[in-house]
Amino acid sequence: PPLSEILNLHDFESIARQVMSEKAWAYYSSAADDEITMRENHAAYHRIWFRPRILRNVTKVDWSTKILGHKTSMPVYITATALGKLGHPDGELNLTRAAAKHGVIQMIPTLASCSFDEIIDGAQPGQVQFLQLYVNKDREITKKIVQHAEERGIKGLFITVDAPQLGRREKDMRMKFEDEDPSVVSETGSKDVDRSQGAARAISSFIDPGLCWDDLKWFKSITKMPLILKGVQCWEDALEAYDQGLAGVVLSNHGGRQIDFSRSGVEVLAEVTKHLGEERGLKFPNEKFQLFVDGGVRRATDVLKAIALGATAVGVGRPFLYAFSSYGVDGVDKALQILHDEFEMNLRLLGAPTLKDVVPSMVDASSLSNH
Ligand code: FNR
Repeated sequence: PPLSEILNLHDFESIARQVMSEKAWAYYSSAADDEITMRENHAAYHRIWFRPRILRNVTKVDWSTKILGHKTSMPVYITATALGKLGHPDGELNLTRAAAKHGVIQMIPTLASCSFDEIIDGAQPGQVQFLQLYVNKDREITKKIVQHAEERGIKGLFITVDAPQLGRREKDMRMKFEDEDPSVVSETGSKDVDRSQGAARAISSFIDPGLCWDDLKWFKSITKMPLILKGVQCWEDALEAYDQGLAGVVLSNHGGRQIDFSRSGVEVLAEVTKHLGEERGLKFPNEKFQLFVDGGVRRATDVLKAIALGATAVGVGRPFLYAFSSYGVDGVDKALQILHDEFEMNLRLLGAPTLKDVVPSMVDASSLSNH
């Protein structure tokens, strides 16, 4: 169908399922085990309700904000998702180009199909990009990646901490990753891969399961980029990250692709703001220690719920993959335009002229277990 018939982010998924290769669909759409967490990621937003305010002047509404001090046109960033060329020959560049057009921030994955430099070179001058890092057992490789990223102007390092081993994504494992086109994986950091168990396992054997809290000092010694942990799933670890002086955490379960039965990011968000408030007197959103959430975000209303609960911004993954797999860069462009339109309308209907007006009392989150 023509792009003009696409009305929301869910639509991209149903179209992608029809047009994508079986292998790409299996890799993008799969999640761990019984996929309970993946379903819960979106379902958790269904337990949060709005308490809109009336009779406020909403002639002009503004949903722009800052992430780690950098301007963004909306409180959404494009999160890191590996293997862009499985879905489209231009891979991650589809995201880079649409991000430039809309003034949003792209997080570049370690396991991008395009090379890191290709993605940086594909950006507009001044375009802000972050890097998602899988830490290699060989720290010299990791050091090179990090320092090169800093030299090339990356503004934040998101270290993935929820994947000491890749989860079992059975849909993907049923597909052998004997790819005819090795260019789908640019830098795996490993050559002797097991290609018999799906794309995810084939590309991830270099990741260091020995990574631990003590290693963060080393990261601070090799880079001045802000460090953020991606994949925090309880308040105790968020507190530890704060105490270690990190710039923030992403409350995420990797799109349900790691341990099944981990909770939705937005559920964890309510727990984290409560306990870090009690333990350290922190208020959120907080500029010095920023909370991000990802997983299952498909509507601006989902984003606004997370903002009300204290998130600085929210990451979106699969919808952009499905958008470029079906329509290339125009699909991502359309997905971002849909979000913009949804922000405008929903801020008006909420009675919130800016994101600062989206406060905790604008949601009824009493059905979340930790609120
Ligand atoms: C991911 N995600 C991910 N995360 C990460 O830190 N490094 C990676 O290489 C990848 N790769 C990846 C591939 C694919 C196909 C998916 C769907 C996801 C996780 C991603 O950053 C994010 O946490 C989730 O995708 C968010 O959930 P939604 O928006 O996809 O529901």
